[in-house]
Amino acid sequence: MQRLDKYLSDAGCASRRELKALLRAGAVRVNGLVVTDGAAKLDEQTAAVTLNGQPVERRRRVVLLMNKPAGYVTSTEDPRDLTVMDLLPEQWKKQAVAPVGRLDKQTEGLLLLTNDGVLAHRLISPRYRVEKSYYARHEGEVGPDDVQAFREGLVLGDGTRCLPARLEPLGPGESRITVTEGKYHQVRRMMASRGAPVVYLRREREGMLTLNGLGPGQVRELNAEETAAIDRLCGTAVPRDSGSDDPLVQN
Ligand code: URA
Repeated sequence: MQRLDKYLSDAGCASRRELKALLRAGAVRVNGLVVTDGAAKLDEQTAAVTLNGQPVERRRRVVLLMNKPAGYVTSTEDPRDLTVMDLLPEQWKKQAVAPVGRLDKQTEGLLLLTNDGVLAHRLISPRYRVEKSYYARHEGEVGPDDVQAFREGLVLGDGTRCLPARLEPLGPGESRITVTEGKYHQVRRMMASRGAPVVYLRREREGMLTLNGLGPGQVRELNAEETAAIDRLCGTAVPRDSGSDDPLVQN
């Protein structure tokens, strides 16, 4: 069950303010009956919703892959900076997508955006162990002791415990780091704790998804194969039943 005002705004048919006025004016019908209360609940699987006599389609699930350039903040709005939403064509903004997790303003690379809250939660949650791989250029050198410390799970200076992670030295001042969680500035803090502060960071992989030639600032929808793969990884094939969204909990 979903609130009518949320259903309408997710469908992207009008702004919240416009919707209030439309509801008040009796422009919205659910299963043929005028509904003026935006808080009214409807079964989004079966309800027939119209606005000024036109059917309002249920929101389509959208999962986008972006190559985030440096200089954009990962947020839906910001009073000062450009956000990753400024890189999205209008058609997708209307679908109410939001970034999955966060890349720092200066971090580049793979960023997913979706309007599927369950998928977003599972991609971020350490419980689902979705790997995120980063290419880093850094000061100093890392060696076998650092690789081992990452494998065992680092404890940062402020006592923050990190899950076991993979550090692969690639050459002088270059490494690949793979983590399954997304703490604040995690990779930068992990590397700094080993005396190797990061000077450049790019996310290259999330689960099995890679940028695969997508240029900086470009965005595309996942193809069918990628969508199926990410759904297998997260247990999120749609339509889902209406019970718990957690596969560890019996419905
Ligand atoms: N870790 C960081 O430190 N920064 C990012 O943007 C992503 C992971």
